[in-house]
Amino acid sequence: MKTSLIKKFTDRAAVIGIVGLGYVGLPLSLRFAEAGFKVLGLDIDPAKPEHIAAGRTYIQHIPAEAIHQATARGFEATTDFTRAREADALILCVPTPLDAHREPDLSFVLDTTEALLPHLRAGQIVSLESTTYPGTTDEELKPRIESTGLRVGEQIFLAFSPEREDPGNPNFTTRTIPKVVGGTTRACLEVGVALYSQVIDRVVPVSSTRAAELTKLLENIHRAVNIGLVNEMKMVADRMGIDLYEVIDAAATKPFGFVPYYPGPGLGGHCIPIDPFYLTWKAREYGLNTRFIELAGEINHQMPAWVVGKVAAALNGQRKAVNGSRILVLGLAYKKNVDDTRESPSVEIIEQLVALGADVDYSDPHVPRFPKMRRYQFDLESVMLTQESLAGYDAVVVATHHDGFDYALIREHARLIVDARGMYRDPAPHIVRA
Ligand SMILES: NC(=O)c1ccc[n+]([C@@H]2O[C@H](COP(=O)([O-])OP(=O)(O)OC[C@H]3O[C@@H](n4cnc5c(N)ncnc54)[C@H](O)[C@@H]3O)[C@@H](O)[C@H]2O)c1
Repeated sequence: MKTSLIKKFTDRAAVIGIVGLGYVGLPLSLRFAEAGFKVLGLDIDPAKPEHIAAGRTYIQHIPAEAIHQATARGFEATTDFTRAREADALILCVPTPLDAHREPDLSFVLDTTEALLPHLRAGQIVSLESTTYPGTTDEELKPRIESTGLRVGEQIFLAFSPEREDPGNPNFTTRTIPKVVGGTTRACLEVGVALYSQVIDRVVPVSSTRAAELTKLLENIHRAVNIGLVNEMKMVADRMGIDLYEVIDAAATKPFGFVPYYPGPGLGGHCIPIDPFYLTWKAREYGLNTRFIELAGEINHQMPAWVVGKVAAALNGQRKAVNGSRILVLGLAYKKNVDDTRESPSVEIIEQLVALGADVDYSDPHVPRFPKMRRYQFDLESVMLTQESLAGYDAVVVATHHDGFDYALIREHARLIVDARGMYRDPAPHIVRA
C-alpha cells in the first residue's frame, strides 16, 4: 500500500484533494497543479468552487491568471465531499481559531474529518496543515479515521505538516519555503515526505506529528514573544525620550545573536495572536503555565489602547478632545500590503476611538469597504487620500504601513499624525510616535 502510494506521487499520477480553499489551501492547490497533479479542491463554502470554475481570484495576492492556469490543467473544486474518494492525498487546510473563552476551537478540523470519514479508503494519506496543539493529529484524527476500520500506518496514512506562509512577501513562494512533516508512524512519514517532496524544494522530516505540531507553535510563539518584548521596549523608550527605532537599527548592526523586531499597534492576523494559546491550553493538561506566552499576549493586547492614549494626549496638546474629533485611521489590514483584516489591531483602535466619541474614518487601498466581522460592524468605505481629505481630519493614525500610502503627502497635509509604525523618523511638531 505504502509503496504504490509513494509511486503514484513520484509518477505525478496521484489526485490531490485540498480541503479548505482559503489563504493556505488555495496557493497549495495551485502549486500541486503547477507540478502536474490533478487537484480536487473541497470546501463547504459554495462561493469558492464558483470563483475557481470562473477563473476568478478571491485572495488579493493570488492573481486570477494563476487560477486560470491551474483550472486549465484540471484543477477543480466542489462542495461534494463524496468526491474525496477520488483523492490519493487529502490535505486539510481549515481554520483553527479560538473560541469566546480563548480556548482552541477545533470544530472546523473535526467537522471536516467527520465529513470525510464515509469517503476514506485504503491507499490514501490524510495530512493536517492547520496550526494546532501537540497531540491533535494522534488524539483527534487517528481514532476517528480508525473508526472506519482502516488501520493508520498500514492501509491509510496520517501526517501533520504545518503551513508556513507570509502573505504579500514576494521573496518566498509555496515551493521555496521548507516544509516540516511528521507522521503518525514511520510509514506515514515516508508517504508524507514523498507527497510534499513533489512540490516543495526542501522537506524537513521530524520524528512525530507532535514534534511537527509544536514546531509550528514554536515559530509563532517566538514571534509573539519578541513582538511583545519590543512593544514593551517601545513604552520604556517613549517614557525615557529615546528613539527606539534608532536603537533597533543600531542593535541590528550586531552580526550575531540579535534579530530586529519592530513595535506596532498590536498583533493581528490569523496566526500570531491566536496560535500561542493553543499551547497554553494544552500545557495546562500537563500542569504547566506558559508564562512567556501570557505575558507577551498581555503586552501586545494592550497596544491598541496605548495608541488611542497617544491620540488622546496629542489632541489634548492642541486643546481638543477625542470626543467630536474627526480621526482617520490609515490601514485596516493587520499588516502591510495585504487585504487581510482578521484580528487587525486597527479595528480595535477604531472601536476604542468610536467609543470615546470620535468620528472615525479609515483609508486602506487593499480594503475598499469595511468587511463584515464577527465582533464589529462599521458601515465605512475607504477614504481616498488627497490634500483636502487629509486636511479635514483632526488626527491621522498610521496603523498599517502599506507601501501604497503617499507618506510625503500625509506628512504635508495632515494636521496631526500619530505614527504607530515608525514611518516618520524625522521629528516634527505635528508628528507623535505611538
Ligand atoms: N493564513 C496564513 O497565512 C496561515 C499561515 C500558516 C498557517 N495557517 C493555518 O492554516 C489554517 C487555515 O488557515 P487559512 O488562513 O487558510 O484559513 P481561511 O479561513 O482562509 O480558509 C479556510 C477555508 O476552509 C473552509 N472551511 C471551513 N470549514 C470547512 C469544512 N468543515 N470543510 C471544508 N472546508 C471548510 C472555509 O470555507 C475556507 O475557505 C489555520 O489553522 C491557520 O492557523 C494560516
